[in-house]
Amino acid sequence: MSAVLDDAAFAEARAHRTRAMRHLAHGVSSTPRASQRPAPIVAERGEGAWITDSQGNRFIDYALGYGPLILGHSPAPVLEAVKAELDRGLRTASVNHAEMELAEAIAACVPSAELCAFVSTGTEAVQLALRVARAATGRIKVVKFRTNYHGWFDNVHVAGRPGDDGPSAIGQDPHAADSLRLLDWGDAAALEQALDDSFAAVLLEPAAINPGCFAPPEGFLERLRAATRRHGAMLIFDEVITGFRLALGGAQARYGVLPDLTVLGKALGGGLPIGAVCGSAAAMAPLASGALFHRGTFNGNPLSMAAGIATLGVLRQGAAAIYPRMGAQAGELADHARAEARRCGVPLCVQQVGPVLQLFAGVDSLAGLPDAGRADRELTQRLTEALLRRGVQALPRGLMYLSAAHGPAEIDLTRAAFTGALADLAR
Ligand SMILES: Cc1ncc(COP(=O)(O)O)c(C=O)c1O
Repeated sequence: MSAVLDDAAFAEARAHRTRAMRHLAHGVSSTPRASQRPAPIVAERGEGAWITDSQGNRFIDYALGYGPLILGHSPAPVLEAVKAELDRGLRTASVNHAEMELAEAIAACVPSAELCAFVSTGTEAVQLALRVARAATGRIKVVKFRTNYHGWFDNVHVAGRPGDDGPSAIGQDPHAADSLRLLDWGDAAALEQALDDSFAAVLLEPAAINPGCFAPPEGFLERLRAATRRHGAMLIFDEVITGFRLALGGAQARYGVLPDLTVLGKALGGGLPIGAVCGSAAAMAPLASGALFHRGTFNGNPLSMAAGIATLGVLRQGAAAIYPRMGAQAGELADHARAEARRCGVPLCVQQVGPVLQLFAGVDSLAGLPDAGRADRELTQRLTEALLRRGVQALPRGLMYLSAAHGPAEIDLTRAAFTGALADLAR
């Protein structure tokens, strides 16, 4: 059984938090990071699949920076590319070779991508995609699906929790999302009924990872594709998580349905800030012509571009081995966690889509996304705390990402951590 980290092992993390709270609002730079228990660990070093905290504790990392670190921490090709770019000067807001080369690499990987435009985050990229769709169609209304996450801006940051269609944060303009039509993800018939010629776009996570790792139901994406075509609306896949993760070509390659516009982020930058929108030349026409103003001081910054080129380079070269391995590892962990949970009598549903897992404690199974509200959030968080105490870092809410750096040794250790953590929970 794996060793357990007691409260003393998190003393520095707690002390850090107390000091950080004095001048850094909430002690973190993104609210969910504060939710880690027993305390948010302070990342001192990252190497491969491992992260070391300020007290020298080592964790196998399945949070992976909330997704970007698809090659793990400190992949040599990415670090070398960034250092080489750095040596040539920061060149912020310059026209540069790297932005052109990364756009070329995206076009080579993502089936629907011909033209690409860069921003600095996934949140911004969603906004740019919506602007392109509205400019192209001359329409305003957009379909968004409940509990899909598309960044934190007021016009999309709504209906984040089952049963609540309102703003996801206080301080949001309640009217900013007035042009959204909210529907249930997975319900193609509802979309077919709601859509008419007044909509600019249908926006979705093609595999619903944020709501809890749900693969699209049979025929769902195909019916969305047909309905949007019928009504002249753009189909926008938000592939900020699924891009370069579910396959080299993302969810659209895995499921064989091509959107008009694709939103990218996270893994594309290999750990540096990035966002992108891509599509066919026709779909991207408002941007390509220059008619749609596309602004941003940090767009296409050479460091992020270099990290992206290197990351896609590794993924393209190793795709035949990397994607099946990550998927198999995720499957092995899911099977083991389910079996151990059954043995210990802990209700646990483990959702898997390719190399991504979601732990839902308190339920044995879920009928689909609308059912996800039945899971016990508190018990799930207790499970991720128990895993952290046994040297495995998942996102506190139960999401786990595999990377190209996870090997058999890490998987064995993680299996042992699950065995111990579930036994802890049963006690
Ligand atoms: C599907 C999806 N879209 C957009 C975003 C926003 O990306 P960022 O955090 O880079 O702004 C996220 C972030 O988690 C996401 O998961």
